[in-house]
Amino acid sequence: MTSISAGSKRDEPSNLRFIETSRPVVDESREVVASLSEQPPRLSPKYFYDSQGSELFEAITELPEYYLTRAEAEIFGRHLDEIVEALGVADVIIEPGSGNCSKVLPLLERALPHTFVPIDIAGNFLWEAAKDVARQLPELSVTAIAADFTRDWTFTQAIPAGHRIVFYPGSTLGNFEPDAQRDFITQLARVVGARGAILLGIDLHKDGVTLQQAYDDTAGVTAAFNRNILRVVNERAGADFKPDQWRHEARYNPDLRRIEMDLIAESEDAISVGGQGFVFPPGAAIRTEHSYKFTLEDIQHLAAHAGLSLAKHWLDNQSRFCLALLVPGTASP
Ligand code: AVJ
Repeated sequence: MTSISAGSKRDEPSNLRFIETSRPVVDESREVVASLSEQPPRLSPKYFYDSQGSELFEAITELPEYYLTRAEAEIFGRHLDEIVEALGVADVIIEPGSGNCSKVLPLLERALPHTFVPIDIAGNFLWEAAKDVARQLPELSVTAIAADFTRDWTFTQAIPAGHRIVFYPGSTLGNFEPDAQRDFITQLARVVGARGAILLGIDLHKDGVTLQQAYDDTAGVTAAFNRNILRVVNERAGADFKPDQWRHEARYNPDLRRIEMDLIAESEDAISVGGQGFVFPPGAAIRTEHSYKFTLEDIQHLAAHAGLSLAKHWLDNQSRFCLALLVPGTASP
């Protein structure tokens, strides 16, 4: 199932191991046909993140309206000592969706685990990022795993035993639907076992204006990010959307506590994908993303469902974002 390479290529730090899991072959044009056939039509947010999409997302994190990244960084800046103390023994730190590994660095430097396990679907990017971490922290073992962590964790045998901490920042959990959120936290609870913990960065429910603006900035970066999904779908699934004919729309749904992001056809776009035609008349919408927001109670319920409890949490100075520490057991905080 997994192939392991360690220190084989030249210039590789000896404290780095790379594990590649076999990727399931998915027919992306069939997947796109299926999701566009739903009512309302959808596209999977996984298509946002080609290299251009990842750059646009990075630009989003610097927007004045998009407070999430700064609020999370502020929490780490202020409370790192307390966070590390609350973690207790941290032998292994695991980060699903580690990206460029920039968020975890201060934690690695302070908590001093013996092993860091970054997991990401983008193998080449992961390899480069893991190499940087391994060079910067030569005492640390880095076991990088290229895998789709939203599926079964068939690779857990490659993660060393001990007190395991899962770090899952950025409110990425909010992009899953509620049932998938519960399944994912349950999976993480299994991975950390009885002595571990989960450190979760989560965006909080708040007034609709602040939220709506965070996903509909005046510079139009989020609009470009949203439209970019059509270009990626054209490339990966062989579709022929005309991205310029679509407009970005984002709104907060306070009942479901989620941002709903759509693309709206401004004029008719008749497209073909996987041998199938779709006609989108003016005003037709495609749902591209949900970004769920949470109350502290939501987080407690999510934890309880997985046999965990919310042991501690930290907020930024405007209480917009939450760093939550979930630990095994049902004792109330
Ligand atoms: C991937 C969860 C960090 O939902 O806030 C940002 C993605 N979409 N603006 C989020 C996103 C539009 C983002 N996260």
